[in-house]
Amino acid sequence: MTKLTKAVIPAAGWGTRLLPATKAIPKEMVPVLDRPAMQWAVEEAAAAGLSDICVVTSRAKSAIEDHFDTAPELEAALERRSKTEALEAVRRTATLAKLHYTRQASALGLGHAVAQAAEHIAGEAFAVLLPDVVMEPSSPLLRELVSAHGRTGASVLALIEVEPEEVSSYGCAAVEPVPGDDSLVRITGIVEKPSPAEAPSRLTVAGRYVLTPAIMEALRRTEPGAGGEIQLTDAIEAVVDSDEPVYGHIFDSGLYDTGTALGLIEANVAFALADPQLGPAVRKMLKEQSARE
Ligand code: UTP
Repeated sequence: MTKLTKAVIPAAGWGTRLLPATKAIPKEMVPVLDRPAMQWAVEEAAAAGLSDICVVTSRAKSAIEDHFDTAPELEAALERRSKTEALEAVRRTATLAKLHYTRQASALGLGHAVAQAAEHIAGEAFAVLLPDVVMEPSSPLLRELVSAHGRTGASVLALIEVEPEEVSSYGCAAVEPVPGDDSLVRITGIVEKPSPAEAPSRLTVAGRYVLTPAIMEALRRTEPGAGGEIQLTDAIEAVVDSDEPVYGHIFDSGLYDTGTALGLIEANVAFALADPQLGPAVRKMLKEQSARE
């Protein structure tokens, strides 16, 4: 089995839940603490050994490419002003990983976005990171998915348990235990945005996947599903139905959905509180604010 090195980061959606903030700025570039959500995802992938990254973008997303490029004029200005820390931070973004870009001509769904990376993936297994789902930097989740794929050779999805009323916002999995492996469950079925009555469990797909090349073939045959979009979940269901094993790795913390206003605020508060420099001041500010209320 070849070592996993490739990741796909789909970033071609509309980001409608954060409008108007995302009218001219990609939602993937909305900041969490001191860097855009997209940078947290690229750093997470690189830290898990996935340094060959295919970003799926679209029109009006050029800020993403600019962010991970060199910025000679800005760097020269920072150098002249001896702003060494800022200079280091700016230069670092261009060295995090090898980024490749491909376009999704129209936002036809997450599955369709992932399919645009098929040529780059070239028949290998790969990870998918949804960049609006920001993980705490200390989270071992992606490394654990990569390692589970190394053990099984199969697709492995990150699963998290949510409240019953939240299930219908996500892909939801039916699972069974894996004899002899407590860290994994076998996925026996998966459905996108089920009604509460249809939901097979409270385990939902959490924005991190390792997928085998079979998914690209399945995506080619996937028709539009929930919301009229070509759903990655439906292609995964086709792989499950083909009897190729698909596993889930259940985890319970460290994830922030920055694609909603509340999730974005929560991520910023959590990251700021954990920051050694900002933490104490932010804690004080939060206490003062809640006392004022
Ligand atoms: P989301 O469903 O969270 O993104 O997809 P969205 O559609 O942009 O958000 P809303 O619902 O309108 O607010 C998760 C990731 O998949 C990408 C998005 O850019 C996001 O990073 N995506 C989604 C695509 O690349 N293409 C698509 O057609 C849909």
